[in-house]
Amino acid sequence: MPNLKLIDTHAHLDSADYNEDRAVVIARAFSEAIGVITVGVDLDSSEAALKLAQRRRFIWAGVGVHPHEARTFNAHVEKRLREFAADSKVVAIGEIGLDYYRDLSPRSMQRDAFIEQIKLANELDLPVIIHNRESTKDMLAILRKHRPKRGVIHSFLGDIDLAREFMELGLYLGIGGPLTFKKNDILRDVLSQIPLDRILLETDSPYLTPVPYRGKRNEPAYVRLVANEVARIKEISVEDVATTTEHARQLFHI
Ligand code: NI
Repeated sequence: MPNLKLIDTHAHLDSADYNEDRAVVIARAFSEAIGVITVGVDLDSSEAALKLAQRRRFIWAGVGVHPHEARTFNAHVEKRLREFAADSKVVAIGEIGLDYYRDLSPRSMQRDAFIEQIKLANELDLPVIIHNRESTKDMLAILRKHRPKRGVIHSFLGDIDLAREFMELGLYLGIGGPLTFKKNDILRDVLSQIPLDRILLETDSPYLTPVPYRGKRNEPAYVRLVANEVARIKEISVEDVATTTEHARQLFHI
C-alpha cells in the first residue's frame, strides 16, 4: 500500500451531502495522501460504502446498522452484512452501538442489534466501530459481556476514567472535530493524558466539522486539522501524530 500520511477512520462518504461533488471531495483527500474508512449506517449505506471502497484504492468500508436504524436490523440484514464483509475492502463492522440521546430506535432493539453485530464481527475477525451517546452504562455492560476482539470508540466523549475503561477493554479512542471546539476542554484534557498509541483520527464527515470550518460541511481532508490540534495539545510534531496511521492500519488490517 502506498504511503498514506493520515487515515480518516470514520467518514460517511455515501452521504447525500456529497452528491454534487463526491469525486472532488475524494480527490482532495487523496491529493493530501489521506485515506478514508467510510462507514455505513444501514443496509443501503453499507452497500454504498462498499461500492465506493471497491472503486478506490485508498478507501475502505465499514458495514453495519447504526443504533438509530436498529429497528431495521433482522436476520436478512445480518446475512447481507455477512455477504458484504466477504469483500476484502470491508475492514470493520460499523457503525454500530447505542444512542440513548436521540432514541430513534427502541433501546431494547438497539441493544440486540449491537450485540448481534459484535458477535458477527468476532466471528469474522473484524474490528467494530462503536457509537456511544448517553448510553455509557449499558455500553460498558455489553462490552464487558460480549468483548469485541478489537475496535474503536468513535468520537470518544467522556472523562479520563471512561477513556481508561475503554482502553482496558482493548479499544482505541476515535478523536475528531470536537477536539477543536471551544467548549471542549474536557476532551483536550483527556487527550493530553492518554497515550498516542490508543488514538485514531477521524472526521465523521459530513458532520462534526472542525474549527475553523465549523458550521460548514465536513470532509476527510480536514482530518489534518484534527492531527494539528492533537499535535498542539500533546506538544509533539504532526509527524509524530501521523504514527496513528500505523495503528489504524494494524487495527483494520489495511
Ligand atoms: Ni458516524
